[in-house]
Amino acid sequence: MKIVAINGSPRGMAGTTGRLLEEVIAGAREAGVEVDIVCLSQTPIQPCVACDLCHKVGTCPIKDDYEIIKAKLEACDAFILASPNYIFSITAQMKAFVDRCNGLAHRTALEGKYAVVVESSGGGEDEEVLNYMQRIVNSYGAQCVGKIGSPGAGPRMFPDQEALFEKARALGRDLCAAVQEGRHFPEQDEFRLAFKARMAYLINMMGEWWPYEREYLASR
Ligand SMILES: Cc1cc2nc3c(=O)[nH]c(=O)nc-3n(C[C@H](O)[C@H](O)[C@H](O)COP(=O)(O)O)c2cc1C
Repeated sequence: MKIVAINGSPRGMAGTTGRLLEEVIAGAREAGVEVDIVCLSQTPIQPCVACDLCHKVGTCPIKDDYEIIKAKLEACDAFILASPNYIFSITAQMKAFVDRCNGLAHRTALEGKYAVVVESSGGGEDEEVLNYMQRIVNSYGAQCVGKIGSPGAGPRMFPDQEALFEKARALGRDLCAAVQEGRHFPEQDEFRLAFKARMAYLINMMGEWWPYEREYLASR
């Protein structure tokens, strides 16, 4: 089993989000699973320029490591998205990456995979950011096994830290268990399947302008 963890904090694993992510990863590693960590602070991803080539030919022409990270996502069994709360949302680094994944969303290309989402904040709206990240996971066709987020209590520290870290490690273990069981989260189906149908409609509507996605849909 392979897991990819993508951390959108500009502080990378040295930050508060990275500290919580470390515990989720420790839980997964306890289950004997390989976890590949991608820090967008070290691998900067430029913003999408809306050239539509991901829809037309299936690859992005921007010269950075996006295609390498995309290949890791396509090859993994499960992934983790981690971001601090930046103004009720994810960081610009994570948003740039998510926007570049637009082709994955159109093809709901990560269907059959599982994810968890991780967040930290200065003081709140953790649920709002975590719910947004779950929708991102679902828009790729993947299912979200769980969410963990908390306000910080200083750099790399949290209130009631031991209980939070135990929950984080349990979430890491549960991510591996969900993959092994092929678990189903029916409460996510309404959004996930409606999004998939909407994308199929869009690809059909765009017809000859998006040949790569049209062929992908025809062969699905
Ligand atoms: C630009 C910026 C915007 C932020 N916006 C919020 C916010 O809206 N709500 C909040 O609770 N914390 C906010 N924070 C605080 C961070 O979410 C918090 O410090 C987080 O733990 C940082 O994680 P990191 O060390 O992994 O980068 C913001 C921080 C920055 C730098």
